[in-house]
Amino acid sequence: MNKPFRLGVLGSGKGSNFTAIADAIDAGKISAQVGVVLSDVEGAGILAHARDREMAAQFIPPGKFRTKLDEEAERNYVAALQAARVDLIVLAGFMRVLKGDFLRAFEGRIVNIHPSLLPSFPGLEAWKQALDHGVKVTGCTVHFVDAGVDAGPIIGQQTVPVLDNDTPESLHQRIHAAEHELYPKCVGAIARGEISVAGRRVVWRKN
Ligand code: GRF
Repeated sequence: MNKPFRLGVLGSGKGSNFTAIADAIDAGKISAQVGVVLSDVEGAGILAHARDREMAAQFIPPGKFRTKLDEEAERNYVAALQAARVDLIVLAGFMRVLKGDFLRAFEGRIVNIHPSLLPSFPGLEAWKQALDHGVKVTGCTVHFVDAGVDAGPIIGQQTVPVLDNDTPESLHQRIHAAEHELYPKCVGAIARGEISVAGRRVVWRKN
């Protein structure tokens, strides 16, 4: 039997995307195991959700910076992920930018979800940026992570219409619902070996 495909999940917040992925695993839609869930926020919901499911979950302090991991923290994250023998790092609301040594340790094996149709509206509060700009369609994007911010090759996107009476909250809520469909689909396809990358272009093929 093939060895199971293992996920390392990183998050700083509620963990609703993590929950959607864990539910898809339970439902047999993703053939994978969660090896470990890590957070830079001690009280993050994502850690509580992981523990409720009796998965390995660990708070690792991020160190002295606000938007990235310091060197020691980076080493600790890499060590924990290697110890858990993960095949893919799934960023699910991890609010820090990953840098050199981390990216090199898992090159081409880190994915992220972003709440806009990239390359539009990278960065924080992308749903608010979309509303303020006046676009009629926005959505979410799953992409490989590289050294840029919200910039790596795009794996999948799902659109969400912007309604005339939308508030930032209502739009964010519908984008979140779309994320919960898109992220499990993309992670499932990667776990099945259906995703390949040629430059910036990601190709899906059925096994
Ligand atoms: C999502 O909106 C995702 O796009 C962004 O962070 C949020 C995480 O939400 N990267 P949750 O913790 O999965 O509920």
